[in-house]
Amino acid sequence: MKDQIEQLKRAKNAVILAHYYAPAEVQEIADFVGDSFYLAKIAKQSKADIIVFCGVSFMGESAKILNPDKKVLMPDLVADCPMAHMVARGAIDEMRAKYNDLAVVCYINSTAELKCQSDVCVTSSNAVKIVKALPNKNIFFIPDRNLGRFVAEQVPEKNIILNDGCCPIHAAITAQQVKAEKDKHPDAIVLSHPECDASVLALSDYIGSTAEIISFAKNSVANEFIVCTEDGVNYKLLSENPNKCFYYPKPHPCCADMKLNTLAAVLSVLEKEDKEVTVNEDVRRKALLPLEKMLELAK
Ligand code: 13P
Ligand code: SF4
Repeated sequence: MKDQIEQLKRAKNAVILAHYYAPAEVQEIADFVGDSFYLAKIAKQSKADIIVFCGVSFMGESAKILNPDKKVLMPDLVADCPMAHMVARGAIDEMRAKYNDLAVVCYINSTAELKCQSDVCVTSSNAVKIVKALPNKNIFFIPDRNLGRFVAEQVPEKNIILNDGCCPIHAAITAQQVKAEKDKHPDAIVLSHPECDASVLALSDYIGSTAEIISFAKNSVANEFIVCTEDGVNYKLLSENPNKCFYYPKPHPCCADMKLNTLAAVLSVLEKEDKEVTVNEDVRRKALLPLEKMLELAK
């Protein structure tokens, strides 16, 4: 399958992008692997005719919004992020009516429709920097309450209004599970994604995006880590640090949607070009503005 994928990729001038939560064998054949921010930048710069995005729908959608003339394919169009939908209908309008200087800051893990109603997008690796750079005092942060609260702590000068959405995978990690790992491995450093609950972040030595966690582990002198994010990161962590040990809360955090990006699905979509991401042109134009603003402010 890997050879066939390689041949088709070359013949069709296709590029494969994979998130760190995609299955290991897909990360292995991908041209670019990274966190949400890196992949959005790569998608924007790509010279390929076809982008195969091994992630979840908001990622494929963002790639299409940034590249309307390219064919964006996903190995499985069912792969979705439940959090991307977690904003109540009318909540944004209600908040705009309440505060006249409001900025709606939208985590990239959101539908294109939510992006259309937002002022700027952020990812976990640039949210603090972007919120700090905004002139607005009042910020409505959607959809993730956990990333929103983490940003609010780093930017106390702003009034950050939280929305009650969350990632079910990260929110399921408990402080008790982390403590159980810490009891077994007392010297381990706790690395967490900001989508985790406050009680987990309080036990953490380092908080960052998937790429930041991977880079921290590589540069650290420590040898043992408790990793509080989806276990797909283990592929990169182990390949870069074969002599270090990585432990996960039990049960292992696993995003079933990300795991739909199998090697067989990648091969099939490259052969048939049948799972194409489409975005209504009016929606695309509106959703492009907050995405471009993010790319600009994060520079
Ligand atoms: P990052 O890769 O930007 O840290 O995002 C994590 C995530 O949950 C993507 O779905
Ligand atoms: Fe969405 Fe969570 Fe899966 Fe990331 S890990 S895609 S935030 S459900």
